[in-house]
Amino acid sequence: MLERLTQIRDAVLDRARLDAGDTLLDVGCGDGLIGFGGLDRVGPTGRVIFSDVSQDLLDLCRQRALELDAAERCVFVLSSADRLDAVPDGSVDAVTARSVLIYVADKPACFREFHRVLHPGGRLSVYEPINAFAARTGSDGRFCGYDMAPVADLAAKVKALYVGLQPPDADPMLDFDERDLLHAAEQAGFTEIHLELRVDVEPQLPALGWDGFAHSAGNPLIPTLAEALAQTLSPAETDRFRAHLQPLVEAGRGEHRLATAGVWATKRSTAPQPTASANKRSTRGMSVHRQSTSCVGQLTQWELGGLPGAESTQRDEPAGPEEQQAGQRDRRGCEAGVEWRAATVRLDHGGRDQARVAGGSQDDDPQATVFRTPGQA
Ligand SMILES: C[S@@+](CC[C@H](N)C(=O)[O-])C[C@H]1O[C@@H](n2cnc3c(N)ncnc32)[C@H](O)[C@@H]1O
Repeated sequence: MLERLTQIRDAVLDRARLDAGDTLLDVGCGDGLIGFGGLDRVGPTGRVIFSDVSQDLLDLCRQRALELDAAERCVFVLSSADRLDAVPDGSVDAVTARSVLIYVADKPACFREFHRVLHPGGRLSVYEPINAFAARTGSDGRFCGYDMAPVADLAAKVKALYVGLQPPDADPMLDFDERDLLHAAEQAGFTEIHLELRVDVEPQLPALGWDGFAHSAGNPLIPTLAEALAQTLSPAETDRFRAHLQPLVEAGRGEHRLATAGVWATKRSTAPQPTASANKRSTRGMSVHRQSTSCVGQLTQWELGGLPGAESTQRDEPAGPEEQQAGQRDRRGCEAGVEWRAATVRLDHGGRDQARVAGGSQDDDPQATVFRTPGQA
């Protein structure tokens, strides 16, 4: 299981094509499987934004980041995948989401948000179970992949409970397939879209024991089998149900059906690649160097740090090696980047691929602004 998860994590990250210095947004980060894998790949000058609807899981990731001595490269954002309000337009290089969209009713809105927060040329990598596959293609006589013909009356009652809780045509976990994901990516404006569907139909592995099987659920939103039996069957019916199913479960005499889809895509790069000189404009001693991911990453982090629902663990910390490196490449831009650490900085890539920076150091006019449009000198 762990090996399979590692393979999936690596595939998701491979498809996000992360580079050193990138800013990665991992949506629905959970306990950080993808986000911490991404942190290794973006290296010491990169950033990972962990976002989730669960504050507990964000806190867990923050604790882990502290233990890894990597907190200054991590940002934690409490937000839903379909409302990433705290993440500015065009502010990240890559977005990942694994097993998250199954929890969200409005999947097209998620893809629109992923597209919005990516800068032109940014990459998306999504990976989701396609639960509709097993639900639609499994034999009616089966329950959890086991042949229940001898107790079909009981299986029907238990199944009805689950179907009532998660109607296959309306529940977000079941009401979509891989083509819907592809379509949503396309509608959101992504180009170079790829889809890989993996389907496994194979014998069940023997369960470790009846108790483990009975006290587990297909997903966190539905009751365990033991709970479902208690709600739907009498004690005598439960005994009959169990007498049939337990030997099948323990011997692995069932069928496992699973489909998963990876969708990865690129946001169209509209503007021609700006040259170094065209990409830099300065005013009042401040300079913006868009291609210097270190400085842009810094701005992005501060932007997140200043918005509701977003937290930065780097606030008030001294400039790190990232700024020093950037300083060697672009002294002025980096100086500005360092100064901005003490300021309110807003970075906003609009539809015209324009960067706007407001604020500055305490020595600067706080209303100072820098407008830069790629291609303009
Ligand atoms: C199965 S876990 C996957 C966690 C992580 N992506 C991984 O690969 O291990 C699903 C995660 O999605 C989060 N989640 C559920 N609904 C969400 C939503 N609407 N927006 C963002 N995340 C959500 C859950 O809190 C949970 O952390």
